[in-house]
Formats: sequence, C-alpha cells, structure tokens
Amino acid sequence: MSAPANTTVDVVAIDGPAGTGKSTVAGQLARRVGAQYLDTGAMYRAATLAVLRAAVDPDDEAGVAEVVAPLDIRLVQGGDGTVVYLNGDDVSQEIRTDAVTAAVSAVSANAAVREKLVASQRSHADGAFLVVEGRDIGTVVFPNAELEVFLTATPEARAQRRHRQNLTDGRPSDLAEVLESVNRRDQLDSTRTVSPLRAADDAVQVDTSEMTLNEVLDRLSELVGERIGVRDV
Ligand code: DC
Repeated sequence: MSAPANTTVDVVAIDGPAGTGKSTVAGQLARRVGAQYLDTGAMYRAATLAVLRAAVDPDDEAGVAEVVAPLDIRLVQGGDGTVVYLNGDDVSQEIRTDAVTAAVSAVSANAAVREKLVASQRSHADGAFLVVEGRDIGTVVFPNAELEVFLTATPEARAQRRHRQNLTDGRPSDLAEVLESVNRRDQLDSTRTVSPLRAADDAVQVDTSEMTLNEVLDRLSELVGERIGVRDV
C-alpha cells in the first residue's frame, strides 16, 4: 500500500490494545478539540458481522475476502456516538456482540479486508480534522499524523474496564473470561503478519492503568494543543 498524502489534514492517531479506554478517550477528545472521530475497529467489526451472517469461516482467507469486497460500510456521527451502517442497515449494536468480538481478530488479520478498510479510512481525510482510533493508525493508515498516541494499560486494568462496561451495558460478564479474552486478542493482534499492533516509533506512549478518564483527556488535549494548536470549537 502506498503512503497516504495527508499533509493537508490534521490527524490525531490513537492506537493501543483493547480495554485501554481508547474508544471513550478518542470520542471525547474529538469532541473537546472539535475534530471528527473515526472508530476503525467498528469497521472491522461490521466486516466480521457480514462474514458471520454469510456463515463463512473467519479463517477462510479467500471466503472472507469474497464476502467483504462488495460491502458498503459507513460510519456516521450521531449525537450519541458513531452509527455504523452495513449495506444501509444500522448494525451499531450487533457489532458489539460476543460472537463478533470472538471472530474479529481473524477477519482483521485478512490482508484483503485490511486493504479495503484502510483505503476507506484514508478517504475520510479530505480536509477534515480527525481523531482516528485503531491498532495501525500511526504505523500504517496515517504514518504522517501530526500526533500519534499509543495508549497502554496492564491486562488486569483493561479486563476490569471491559467487565465494568459490559455490566453497565447490561451484558453478562465474567471477569476471568474477560481477562482471558483480552490476553487472547492481544496475542492475535500483535503477532499477525499484516499490520500487527505496535507503537509507531514516534508515538507518545500513555499508560492509562492508574489514570482517570479526565486525566487522560487533559494529557491528550495538551498534546493536541502543542502539536496542532487550539482550534475554535
Ligand atoms: O477497537 P475494537 O475492539 O472495536 O477493535 C475490534 C478488532 O478490530 C480488534 O480485535 C482489532 C481489530 N482492529 C484492527 O485490526 N485494526 C484497526 N485499525 C482497528 C481494529
């Protein structure tokens, strides 16, 4: 894939493993600094939902590529967050189910899927001010981003957060199982051949284990102010 020409847009890239508070941080940071928010994990989840609906094995490389190629996946910012459309249907809730979460690492390791979704992610950078959240944003999608942040936290802290989120959202949750799933996904996401999860060399690493959401937001807003400047919101 060729490097994107994103010199005319301001991009804040936020990467890191599951459960670092990335989605909440990225969404709220975007609001604070007046940027648009792009949740790239939601795109991989929508592709995964389509694969499951088609009853194709997530590890079947050719089969997955065939299902995903014609998909129309769109993210629209609503008042309550991102609305995810798969071929015109709102799948915002369905992409968060355990079935999708269990299969998404395999689907997102598929080179054809990544190529399609990375192209779509780059197409959002058309003069906008963007906060983009994912796993490979600073390394692959927007390597020239004005600010690249890599959020980390201990597996235990991340499992705790996901567990609490599940309970808040009314989903059944078992902490030990969540920790196992966090570790399994970390392992898959960081060892895959295509775009493995890793911090970009020039990324600012922020360990959120002992930080409150507001502390993380204050730190990132400060970094945005330094790198991009303060915009009229
Ligand atoms: O952030 P999330 O949990 O919604 O992401 C879902 C999955 O998608 C996760 O297992 C890793 C993958 N992903 C990816 O490979 N690349 C991205 N840019 C974003 C997410």
